[in-house]
Amino acid sequence: MNTRAARLAVFVSGGGSNLQALLDRFAPGAEAAAQVAAVIASRPSIGAIARAERAGVPVHVLDEREMGAREVEADHLAERMLAVLAEHEVDLVVLAGYLQLLPAAVVRAYSGRVLNIHPALLPAFGGRGMYGLRVHRAVLAAGACVSGATVHWVDEEYDRGQIVAQWPVPVLADDTPESLAARVLAVEHLLLPATIEAVVGAVVPEAPVVAESFSLVTGRAPCEAGIRQLLGEARVHRVLAEPLTT
Ligand code: GRF
Repeated sequence: MNTRAARLAVFVSGGGSNLQALLDRFAPGAEAAAQVAAVIASRPSIGAIARAERAGVPVHVLDEREMGAREVEADHLAERMLAVLAEHEVDLVVLAGYLQLLPAAVVRAYSGRVLNIHPALLPAFGGRGMYGLRVHRAVLAAGACVSGATVHWVDEEYDRGQIVAQWPVPVLADDTPESLAARVLAVEHLLLPATIEAVVGAVVPEAPVVAESFSLVTGRAPCEAGIRQLLGEARVHRVLAEPLTT
């Protein structure tokens, strides 16, 4: 049984709409299972920083490009990150649109406590260089009729760790990379907080978290049979055997 809200560190590199979903779901004052204790940004002047500041959450910019040559060494970046995580007594690290590879020392120190969200159904359409619109372009180029969002544990490779939860959405016949990205992002904003709640032990979903997905989708869904099959399989695949002790 948790004695306090799990403390999250959210790593960001962009607009931060997933961060916003976490700030909204885990707003202070509510009986929240988690709280955003710190935000770590890979570069300055990004939308995610403004969102964190508006919510009164401490932000640390650990920007490799702005560090001196000596400081870009992975060891030094890892040390800075570990110091920030310790300072804020972080229980769970969440990569939400973080475009750098997390240093191996950080992955090791927080083994089993780092989640990432990816805008496709891994293991398809993941790996180095697969981010942003590139992912959705690849999905369309492959002629896939289903895409979606995946939350997975992070290991030392891009997008390879154990899958925790997935939420499929249809690919529509007239989709552009942008329209598909928007449809996937809408479910990301529901999937990520729901998965964190499951992982910290606050909510053990009785039903797959995909149940609402079609309400977010407009238009005709092609490949209906394939989508139904995926919906039948998709769920929070794995929560921790023991809830995180906080
Ligand atoms: C999301 O699509 C996420 O899956 C991916 O990067 C994007 C971040 O968007 N890793 P935002 O910054 O949360 O709006």
